[in-house]
Order: sequence, then structure tokens, then C-alpha cells
Amino acid sequence: MKILVVGGAGYIGSHMVKQLAKAGNDVITLDNLSYGYRDAVKYGEFVEGDLGDDSVLDSIFRSGDIDAVMHFAGFIQVGESVIKPAMYYHNNVVNTFTLLDAMLRHDIKNFIFSSTAAIFGEPDYTPIDEKHNKHPINPYGHSKLMIEQVLDDYDTAYGLRSTCLRYFNAAGADPDGELGERHVPETHLIPLILQAASGRREDIKVFGDDYATDDGTCVRDYIHINDLCDAHSLALQKMMKEDKSARYNLGNGKGFSVKQVIDVAKEVSGNDFKVSIEPRRAGDPAVLVADATLAKEELNWQPQFADLKDIVKTAWDWETGFLAKQ
Ligand code: UFG
Repeated sequence: MKILVVGGAGYIGSHMVKQLAKAGNDVITLDNLSYGYRDAVKYGEFVEGDLGDDSVLDSIFRSGDIDAVMHFAGFIQVGESVIKPAMYYHNNVVNTFTLLDAMLRHDIKNFIFSSTAAIFGEPDYTPIDEKHNKHPINPYGHSKLMIEQVLDDYDTAYGLRSTCLRYFNAAGADPDGELGERHVPETHLIPLILQAASGRREDIKVFGDDYATDDGTCVRDYIHINDLCDAHSLALQKMMKEDKSARYNLGNGKGFSVKQVIDVAKEVSGNDFKVSIEPRRAGDPAVLVADATLAKEELNWQPQFADLKDIVKTAWDWETGFLAKQ
């Protein structure tokens, strides 16, 4: 297949490009490099450009042989979305419309969309399945849910098939050591902890230890990046075979507290580091754990990195390999 990966120079996109290319697909990455890295696109063709730019989209789609589009080019920082909602609605909603319009113009009808656990807001129950109410509590979550709703209508009216994959906490790195997480600024827990473990950061700040959880810190469901990518590949195959849209929650179904993640990182790295307790970060639900039964049943998806230690180990290899040399 020939697949356009929008945002293929970013963390999740770059791993996806590698997996698709290794599986024999023809891959084109479109990325404006606002957050991505040119050197993270190690496979296929690269086009520098914006998903909100009609002319660049038309020139890519004009070739006429693109089978599907995967969209990883969303802005992802919850806190920033609260302060700069216009930026989030512009990129995550308006620019996505431009992409979808261009797909329709060129009769491309298969779309894989990076959605998020943030569409569920504060959970009514855990683990969270696909039927759970959707009531986002920040502009980031709203922007992703808006597109999910638009995609329902585009399916009905235009026959544009989509699979929305709601990631819980994407983590880890390419086990070959070629790719990994490189956000600037970094806000995610595991890379920040590992920076503390390697001495690139003075300490790790725990945002709140007074939540209603066993040890008082927030619980999250960490899912390895390659397992996420596997789910995309399986979802694309199923969607194209059955000509049907779908939505899946993707996680390991196991929750780990911030303190537990810190303990695992100390064990994996063999290093001790300073941990400080800070006030809660605004907008953090206490517990977010996925019920990924549907993805397992319908996609035949089985995460290979079910153990948090294995996930953290791949991220530690990236921290002490590539990142240490930067
Ligand atoms: N945390 C700390 N200290 C830090 C960073 C994070 O204690 O320095 C805590 C957070 O408060 C949270 C947990 O670690 O409890 C995980 O935080 P992350 O920022 O790594 O991940 P989030 O769960 O906030 O966010 C992730 C994705 C978002 C997505 C969200 C879904 O990064 O894009 O899951 O809720 F929206």
C-alpha cells in the first residue's frame, strides 16, 4: 500500500513510518518540522510542509495512488491547550478539516486518526471502554473529540472510512535504538524521570501525592510505542478489508502510579535520583486505565510489551544512547 503519514517526523509518527516501511509499504511523510525532526524520518519519502496547506496536499494526492492517510500531526500538551485554545483548535481542528477536504477532493477514503484518552475527561469508571461517556475537560480533548464527531458524519455522507485510536500513555522507544521520544519541551513522565536518572535533570517532580489512589499519586496506563503502531497497522488492514469505520481504546489495561514508575526507572537504570513532591498539575484525572478488549478482539491485537519494566528499558536505552550524544 501507499500511505501518507502526516506528522511522520514526530514521536509516534516516526515509529509508524518505520513499521509501515519495514512491512513493505510505500510511505510518504508530510511534516512541517515544528515539533518533528527530519532525521527521525529514516524510511520512505519526506515532504516538508503543513497539513493546513492545500497546495502541498494537492501535490501529494495528485499522484493518485495513495491508499490511506494516517494523521499524527496534532498538538498534544493538555496544559498548553488551556492557555492557548486558539492554537489547538486551529491546528487540531481547522487544519484537520483541510486535510480531510483534500482527501475528499482526491477520492482518498481511508483515514487513521490519533485520538486520545483525553476525550473521556474525568472517568465515570475504570478501566475505560469505548462506551464510556465522552466529556473532555480541556481544549486538547475537545479538539480530538470534535474530529471524531466530524469523522462519523463524513463516513455517513461521503463514505470516508476512519479508525480513531484513543491512546492512553504512549511510552518507550524503538527497540533497535534508532528512534525515540524527543519532545521540546518534554512534559511526559517517563522521559523526564529518565533524564533525572541519567543526570541530565536535577530531580523529578511528582505532581500531587494526595489523590485517591493507593499511594496518592496518579495512575496511568503506559503502552509501548511499537504496540501502538501494531494496532494502527492492524486497524488499517481491517478497515480497508471491511470498508468500515471503527474506534478503539489502546492501552495495556494495567495502571501504574507515578511513584511506581519512578521505582521501575530506578531499577532499570540502576541509579538513584532526587524526587520532590509538588502541588497537583491542573487537569490531571487521578486514574486513567484503558479497557482495550475491543481492539484485542476485533483487531487481534496483542501488546508485546505488557511489562512496564520492558517499556522503560527501551526508553532508557534511548536516553543513554541517542539523547546522551546530543
Ligand atoms: N507527572 C509528574 N511529573 C512530571 C510529569 C508528569 O508527576 O514531571 C505525572 C502527571 O501529573 C500524570 C502522570 O505523571 O499524573 C503522567 O503524565 P504525562 O504528562 O506523562 O501524561 P498525561 O497522562 O498527562 O498525558 C497523556 C498524553 C496526553 C493525553 C493524555 C490523556 O501525553 O497527550 O495522556 O489523558 F491527552
